Amino acid sequence: MKIGILTGGGDCPGLNAVVRGATKAALRKGWEVIGFKDGFKGAVEGLSRPLTDRDVSGIIIRGGTILGTSNAANPFAYTIPPLGSVEKPKDLSGQAVKNLKKLGVNALVAIGGDGTLNIAYKFHKKGFPVVGVPKTIDNDLSATDVTFGFDSALTVATEAVDRVHTTAESHHRVMVVETMGRYAGWIALRAGIAGGGDIILIPEIPYRAQDIARAVADRRKRGKNFSIVVVAEGARPEKGEMTVTKPAPGSTDPIRLGGVSYKIADLIEKQAGVECRVVVLGHVQRGGEPTPFDRWLATGFGVKAAELIEKKQFGRMAALKYYSCRSVTLAAAVSELRRVGKGCQELRTALGVGTSFGNSKIIS
Ligand code: F6P
Repeated sequence: MKIGILTGGGDCPGLNAVVRGATKAALRKGWEVIGFKDGFKGAVEGLSRPLTDRDVSGIIIRGGTILGTSNAANPFAYTIPPLGSVEKPKDLSGQAVKNLKKLGVNALVAIGGDGTLNIAYKFHKKGFPVVGVPKTIDNDLSATDVTFGFDSALTVATEAVDRVHTTAESHHRVMVVETMGRYAGWIALRAGIAGGGDIILIPEIPYRAQDIARAVADRRKRGKNFSIVVVAEGARPEKGEMTVTKPAPGSTDPIRLGGVSYKIADLIEKQAGVECRVVVLGHVQRGGEPTPFDRWLATGFGVKAAELIEKKQFGRMAALKYYSCRSVTLAAAVSELRRVGKGCQELRTALGVGTSFGNSKIIS
């Protein structure tokens, strides 16, 4: 048996721990392992290298991915100019399968978020044996209780929220901290709860300017001369759109979000008359070492992926359910994004301690 491993989409703490877990588990079964470079680009362009025990030694603590990644390498709509220029998206999935077969790869482990898992699912439907591992700091995959990378991002975001408290208190300011998360508010919501944020703004609850200003003013009336606002990059006003920073051509998600925090700061200064400062956390949340939880989860997912291949359970994805590594179909994994739902535990918790969501219609 020879397996291939690739990491696709945005990098994220824990990718190396999965690569290590899957490789070690495979080698212990007597299999060979090949790592593909830069996600599916490696499969399309035949860029790979064998992975030995030595290659994966000591990488459990390292962020990023030793294999490299790409969020613009979709073999079914390939736009990366490889050895010549490809102007229009081309279906090079057949070329990828040919390369995998030429290398003697019997099964592929695709580690990634919804974009990568969608591609993995297409390869499965095309008849190539593939299993998936759910990665993303956004925690927006519905078929698993949690994705690896989320806990690490949350740790960074929470520390940032903790740290801005001192300036907020000393200067009697409003500090606005912007987190990542794309179309889901999980990072902002959990970091907001953990860091004691006063106002949390998430894409799932469109905000009203006057309600944010009122929440700040109410705190001042109660003698609290500072406020912490934790805002997800996908937050949007009730009658408005998300803030797009730039297009991302070739990516499975064609836009990048960011910058809504400046709008929030501006409206608070104008409508509540309080000085604001903004901190956009950006890719800091994706950097650095994975937390112990993510190392544990990612290793478990890697071992589970090898187990799925051994049992020939292709077209499935490792998933965490009630603290146990299970598996779900790739079809289920890519069917819908996991977003903050009405009445979920985190919402009730935040509302229970008086957090504002910038919308007076949302009350406990
Ligand atoms: O999906 C992970 C994520 O970090 C999102 O939270 C963010 O919107 C996006 O990726 C940023 O992508 P890029 O690395 O292409 O800027």
